[in-house]
Amino acid sequence: MNSDNLVIAVDGPAASGKGTLSRRVAHFYGLAYLDTGSLYRGVGWLMLSKGLSPRNVEEIEVAASTLTLEQLDNADIRTPDVGRAASVVAAIPEVRQALLQYQRQYATNPPAGKRGAILDGRDIGTVVCPDASVKFFVDAAAEVRAERRWRELFQHNNSLTLDQVLDDIRRRDTRDATRTAAPMKAAQDAHLIDTSLLDIDAAFAAVRRVIDKALA
Ligand code: DC
Repeated sequence: MNSDNLVIAVDGPAASGKGTLSRRVAHFYGLAYLDTGSLYRGVGWLMLSKGLSPRNVEEIEVAASTLTLEQLDNADIRTPDVGRAASVVAAIPEVRQALLQYQRQYATNPPAGKRGAILDGRDIGTVVCPDASVKFFVDAAAEVRAERRWRELFQHNNSLTLDQVLDDIRRRDTRDATRTAAPMKAAQDAHLIDTSLLDIDAAFAAVRRVIDKALA
């Protein structure tokens, strides 16, 4: 990895605030931002729209290795169904392998001449970019995350209950953290940010302190 290239790895569970934080860090420090969850969501969306079975590893692997952002132009990848499908395909080692090169390439050669990149996901600090300049693991209590996600989703689907969202979040956490291939976990050298009691400004301030120290 180019030593002048700043790479920030952000991992954590659904609705922990890692996406909002990462976008803000990218904007503030002039970094490119890759939401790696959208790649897994893309594969999950293809699985659902093409009616593929998660047991048909070969077909899912082809979908992952030929995935292009254009395919997802009009795809609604933010729905709970696509989130669940993403978590299922993300447990398939061949899918992870097919998406690995793109993520590493993005980190080492960020687009648009940026000075570096920030990637968020589940295995960025442990597998995708183990040599990242700075690593974070962003977490929050499941109840707090469920309420955040429910508030977002309720605007489009007011029949969804908070309990359903909490249940979905717990299942997804378990599947993402207990799979054999690159499970979600904090890298040993990651800085833990618990956003249960922090608003976005306070979380961003905590993250900035760490990054500024690393850059000094
Ligand atoms: O962050 P998200 O909710 O958009 O991610 C969707 C799913 O993709 C999540 O359940 C786990 C998976 N994922 C992963 O396994 N590894 C990543 N680096 C990013 C996401």
